[in-house]
Amino acid sequence: MDAEITQIGQHHTQTTEDPQRTHAEQHRHDLDVMHQKQGLQPRTGYLSREPLSRIHRLAVLTSGGDAPGMNAAIKAVVDAADLQHIDVIGFMHGFNGIFERDYLPLTPRDVKHIIHRGGTILKSARCKTMLDTHGPSMAAAILHELSVDALVIIGGDGSFRGATALAPYYQGQIIGIPGTIDNDIDGSDYSIGFATAVDTALDAIDKIRDTADAFERIFLVEVMGRHSGYLAMAAGIASAAEQVICPELHPQLDLPAIAAEIRYAQQQNGKQSYIIVVAEQPGLSTTHLADELTKLTHTDCRACVLGHLQRGGSPVFSDRILATKLGHFAVQQLLTGAHLMMAGEIGGVAGLYPLHLTGERHKSPDPALLLWQQQQQKSRDSSSEDI
Ligand code: F6P
Repeated sequence: MDAEITQIGQHHTQTTEDPQRTHAEQHRHDLDVMHQKQGLQPRTGYLSREPLSRIHRLAVLTSGGDAPGMNAAIKAVVDAADLQHIDVIGFMHGFNGIFERDYLPLTPRDVKHIIHRGGTILKSARCKTMLDTHGPSMAAAILHELSVDALVIIGGDGSFRGATALAPYYQGQIIGIPGTIDNDIDGSDYSIGFATAVDTALDAIDKIRDTADAFERIFLVEVMGRHSGYLAMAAGIASAAEQVICPELHPQLDLPAIAAEIRYAQQQNGKQSYIIVVAEQPGLSTTHLADELTKLTHTDCRACVLGHLQRGGSPVFSDRILATKLGHFAVQQLLTGAHLMMAGEIGGVAGLYPLHLTGERHKSPDPALLLWQQQQQKSRDSSSEDI
């Protein structure tokens, strides 16, 4: 546990280690230093009101876009809590379950055979009531009424914003676990569900390559990601797609340049399959993009929107392991007083990160891969300028 806690210091701050400090004290010291560096008031909002206090009842919920591996995370939370003799309840349909007092008791027996299942046994939803003026205080009152000492939220940045809104009214501890296929959450290298979603997209793109090859066609394959190109970059690079279109690579969409690259490839290699992986973006229709490129290249372009397919399926091993690790870690950290933190993983080591910072910055795809893709694109661009 030592190594896990000091990891925050190693990754985000230069801190001083004092052998006289307990684990929890060292951990809080690291957070203070990190917050001071970020210009935040130290020791506000992230400590338990009663550090190392006894947690009798813990609630868990899954919120926002479901992600493969959420069930594995629920299982780990329930099993870890049970080891500490903590009672667990699961709220149904995200935060809505709190308002509707819709919950069920969860024991290790209830979660015994769910690790391999996609979706979430607790169901998921986005919750409008949490955005109402009185929503967070109402939710806190119900949590108090139900004697919930700690709340574990498995979800993405929207869910964590809900957690932050709840905090001023809630006397218990709150901890987040990153679960979203988008992998757009700061403070963790990967979120639960991302690896499975990439694999699912790859499986689909490989199949599209077969038919694209047979017809020597151009395909635009749209993947999810909300505002992030993480999924598009990973799926595009791993499927050796000819192009990737995502906000990080194309802040402005330049259709003539994309068409010129296609024409250049046709000139160099003759007619052949050509795949462009497109990250979904608000206001961007991949079908419309395919129509426009058909006109510009005088070649048939087809669009294939993978959509919610990417959210389903049995989680791959790495999502199961990540979910198990973070679920267990989250419960351990609650016991040491963690509050308003996300249990994430950086460099393979579990660590805590302030919940309110998880959605503050745009989390950019791996810089090494971004550079590789940019260089690929650049070399093609300079060649296609000649045609
Ligand atoms: O955040 C996960 C995600 O699947 C995004 O990739 C996507 O933009 C969004 O959710 C879709 O949301 P909904 O399920 O409400 O259509």
